[in-house]
Amino acid sequence: MTISVLVVCLGNICRSPMGEAVLRNEALKRGITDIHVDSAGTAAAHLGEDPDDRTIAVCNTNKVPISHSARQVRASDFTSFDYILAADGSNLRALERQVSQSEGSKAAVKLWGSYLPDNKPIPDPYYGGQDGFTKVYEQCVKLSNAFLDEVVGKES
Ligand code: 4NP
Repeated sequence: MTISVLVVCLGNICRSPMGEAVLRNEALKRGITDIHVDSAGTAAAHLGEDPDDRTIAVCNTNKVPISHSARQVRASDFTSFDYILAADGSNLRALERQVSQSEGSKAAVKLWGSYLPDNKPIPDPYYGGQDGFTKVYEQCVKLSNAFLDEVVGKES
């Protein structure tokens, strides 16, 4: 059975398209093909935009394919995705408000960081430099593996 995962941040141009690309890539490295990964933002400011140049740069450096057009979270995401993973607490709260208004939600809506014992948010790198994006990348790798360990299993 295919698992579907939506990674969510604010603008859907920095953290979540990187998280989407990294999670897909880490799954592929484990030979997992029955996973569908997408990303979205809780805000609408960057609709249709490519990922931020600094997100693309760190993905290119690490040979992680990335291609995404920014979109906002929509009601149907709560019925079509198994997991919705928020980058930080503010986006988690926005999702929880939205889920309470959607009928028949099947998605597990969680802080992505909750898959690691430290339960840390992914900090917003938008107003900082490239090093913040490198840190986000490293966090996405760890979080992807923690998620895959728990949800798909360490043996796969
Ligand atoms: P993201 O980063 O939520 O990781 O995509 C941001 C992108 C844009 C803005 C803030 C955060 N912004 O204020 O426009």
